[in-house]
Amino acid sequence: MPAKMLTIDNLDLDNRKVFVRVDINTPVNPQTGELLELSRIEEAAITIRDLPNSAVVVGSHQGRVGRYDYISMEKHAKALSRILGKDVTFVEDVFGSAAKSAIEASRPGDIIMLDNLRFTAEENMEFSPRDAEKTVLVSRLKGYVNACVLDAFPTAHRAHPSIIGFAELVPTCAGRVVAKELIKLERIFAIEKGPYVTVLGGAKVNDRIEAIDALIANQRADKVLLSGLVALVFLKSKGRYRGPLEIENEQKTLVRARQLLDDHPENFEMPIDAAVRIDGMRREFPVGEVPANVPVLDIGSRTIDRYSRLIKGAGTVFMSGPPGAFEYEEFGVGTENLLKAMAGSFGTTIVSGGHLSAALHRFGIHESIDHVSTAGGALVQYLAGKRLPLIDALERAANKWGS
Ligand code: 3PG
Repeated sequence: MPAKMLTIDNLDLDNRKVFVRVDINTPVNPQTGELLELSRIEEAAITIRDLPNSAVVVGSHQGRVGRYDYISMEKHAKALSRILGKDVTFVEDVFGSAAKSAIEASRPGDIIMLDNLRFTAEENMEFSPRDAEKTVLVSRLKGYVNACVLDAFPTAHRAHPSIIGFAELVPTCAGRVVAKELIKLERIFAIEKGPYVTVLGGAKVNDRIEAIDALIANQRADKVLLSGLVALVFLKSKGRYRGPLEIENEQKTLVRARQLLDDHPENFEMPIDAAVRIDGMRREFPVGEVPANVPVLDIGSRTIDRYSRLIKGAGTVFMSGPPGAFEYEEFGVGTENLLKAMAGSFGTTIVSGGHLSAALHRFGIHESIDHVSTAGGALVQYLAGKRLPLIDALERAANKWGS
């Protein structure tokens, strides 16, 4: 393993009750509440399959408080059960009496899934390791489990109780997802070279702004190619797009975007043209002429050409968030072409997140990318050279439980 840490091959987890902290936070259809793609659940299943003689207690968060995707884990439990071909008992509880009795009654080979860990207040807050140990979540559960597997790489940047609180209380190690991601990223770090091109899209605007900050500050983004909603925010901050945005804290976000553009004008590339749906058809307009009453659904052809050239000339390319609404065939053009430019580039290529992973499979080029990560924000922090709380927790655990 890259950093000093234990894996499930180093601990004897047979006949133990093992808390497995996964990240199966999954995109949800806002209208129906259905889970949209299952890549994180499929990855988590790899670790769970490798614990056949343990009583496995799966814990994950889903969504963020107040959002449409802040739902229970019942559907995840059903999906995991289908993937594993085994029963997964969903418990509508996190650390109350229902959870504790289910864990107590569990036997080796059983799989329990707790409810959304973020239904508890503490799991929405950051702690120091010592304070995390004292949270109600950790102090209640620690009496019922006697080992912990940390496999939530996409949440590695959050110092939440379930991520950092168990490491020195019960024998703790990395799961298969964390181990695979770290080994792959370490290899990439050994050969990475500039110029660094980051392609950012999707709808999580505030996350992307945080990412831009971290990557530029750490010289990991010589060029940031903006697309998706985040591009519209930056364009609007300069008065070059007039349509609606419908994002949280719009004014504050626009000020931040403008400040980044003013501070680092040479780092940013913004779309020249955009695609919208008019009369059921894809139509492209220069960004300043996009009709104000229709949503932008993709980058336009001139932008695709320019971004593809920049991607092909890069030493390292990182893409997070799709450039367009690729779930509609006619608006998948930007996503398909930029991913294909990455697949054909001689540089090192890293793609982040379940949406883009699904797109790579759809376009048949998954194998041509050097690393496809399950993580978003955590990966950005890692690429920017930040220390991640989950990795720190694994190092503390290795010091305490390693031989
Ligand atoms: C993610 O999808 O990036 C992780 O699940 C972390 O989610 P968060 O950004 O809401 O903490």
